[in-house]
Amino acid sequence: MNKTIAILIPFLLASCFLCAQNTAVLHSDSVKQTISRHIYGHFAEHLGKGIYGGFYVGEKNTKIPHTNGVRNDVVTALKRLKVPNLRWPGGCFADTYHWKDGIGPKEARPTIVNTWWGGVTEDNSFGTHDFLNLCRMLEAEPYLAANVGSGTVQELIDWVQYVNFDGRAPMSDLRRQNGQEKPWNVTYWGVGNEPWGCGGNMTAEYYANLYRQYATYMTGFSGAGNMFRIASGPAGDDYRWTEVLMKNIPHSMMNGIALHYYAVIDWSAKGPAKDFTEQHYFTSMQRAWKMDEILKGHKAVMDKYDPQKKIALVVDEWGGWYDVEPGTNPGFLYQQNTMRDAMIAGMTLNVFNNHSDRVRMANLAQAINVLQAVILTNEEKMLLTPTYHVMEMYNVHQDAQLLPLDLASGEYALGGQKLPAVSGSASVNKAGQTHITLTNIHATKSQQLSIDLKGKSFKTVSGRILASEKLQDHNTFDQPQKVKPVPFKGATLKGGNLQVVLPPFSVVVLELK
Ligand code: AHR
Repeated sequence: MNKTIAILIPFLLASCFLCAQNTAVLHSDSVKQTISRHIYGHFAEHLGKGIYGGFYVGEKNTKIPHTNGVRNDVVTALKRLKVPNLRWPGGCFADTYHWKDGIGPKEARPTIVNTWWGGVTEDNSFGTHDFLNLCRMLEAEPYLAANVGSGTVQELIDWVQYVNFDGRAPMSDLRRQNGQEKPWNVTYWGVGNEPWGCGGNMTAEYYANLYRQYATYMTGFSGAGNMFRIASGPAGDDYRWTEVLMKNIPHSMMNGIALHYYAVIDWSAKGPAKDFTEQHYFTSMQRAWKMDEILKGHKAVMDKYDPQKKIALVVDEWGGWYDVEPGTNPGFLYQQNTMRDAMIAGMTLNVFNNHSDRVRMANLAQAINVLQAVILTNEEKMLLTPTYHVMEMYNVHQDAQLLPLDLASGEYALGGQKLPAVSGSASVNKAGQTHITLTNIHATKSQQLSIDLKGKSFKTVSGRILASEKLQDHNTFDQPQKVKPVPFKGATLKGGNLQVVLPPFSVVVLELK
């Protein structure tokens, strides 16, 4: 945050003549479900510079510090986020990927042409061992996406046996031969990806049958207990797809249904990632807010068939998607990340927390150098994006218990359209600390928020804020610290209320003790 904003905050707090009024009630006395830490998951596809040049620079690299080819700077940064799970190897790539090509001596591995993303030839030097060992370094749970589009049931059975079976068997013996004595015990498995599109252009009914077939054999080898099997779910508001899966797949065979939804202005004119107008920004905010409506729609369908909420909704691809940076390979989906992305992340994570009775896992697309990345790299340089900072600020909610926050927000209006300006969510952790995260998406107006604490008394409030001078502000390799969180002085406890002043387009995390 720059000096001007830091100076302005106490002033705004005192006078607040520009502020819109917002009210909220925090129900500390009605603690809800645990917000699964898996909502804060990430996604690493073989796409552009996501894996090669992002996570992995190769064992022989002498310029960039690494451990077995994986960048040390990236691991350190991601550990600070407390990444709970990482999805791999795709995305669309997953339905072209044959895992056996990515094991054994690296120099002997066959190549693969990445037909979905740029048509580049990859050497398969980053494979199953590399990914699962990376997850160990991150202390994150791996989430493997199996190839249904162009793979076979046997290929998947073999993969499960290779990574999860401790006993003697052809695949577990092969694993040992390749240097890994003990299984990794992978819990999370996705059955295909976007079968309605790049995963095979199937109908929901056809996929539901295929899912039943694949899921039947995804068992028996897990030392980690039961596998968590995730069916490939709908795109956005395709509620019918969810209904077909809920109706046609026995619930004992399925632990989650995936959902993909991107905040895209228009698929044929996505707009620039950094030199955007306020109209672009407003439309992005409209698309991001739509996540709330979409989750409500899928939840209603799932509640009809599974009122006990046994099956999780897994939003395993979400984020902002714009035109690629000029001059970059259009197939690499490389985009800069600005304060607009911080707003998408802050708002979406609040929405997920508030729907965490059903949303128990999610994966931001994608971790490094692709779409709404948390990290960008350029050779030996690395930067943390505004989205990274939001994910880090919000990680206080991981495995904490949701506290209902009833928010009556003021409006952000543009061109005759309106959106709620403020979103928020709250939780209490095992140590008894209450955290509230708030996002004000208004492009020009501060928001004053008065939160009724309903008789619960707190002694102190402290916080951090991510804000900047311009919506288009972002970090660059020359100025990697332009956008970063700083201490927040805009919250005060007064009587039974918490008064907060949120500057325009800002994200705040508060801790109450
Ligand atoms: O995240 C990029 C792509 O978006 C994924 O490969 C695909 O699943 C989705 O359409």
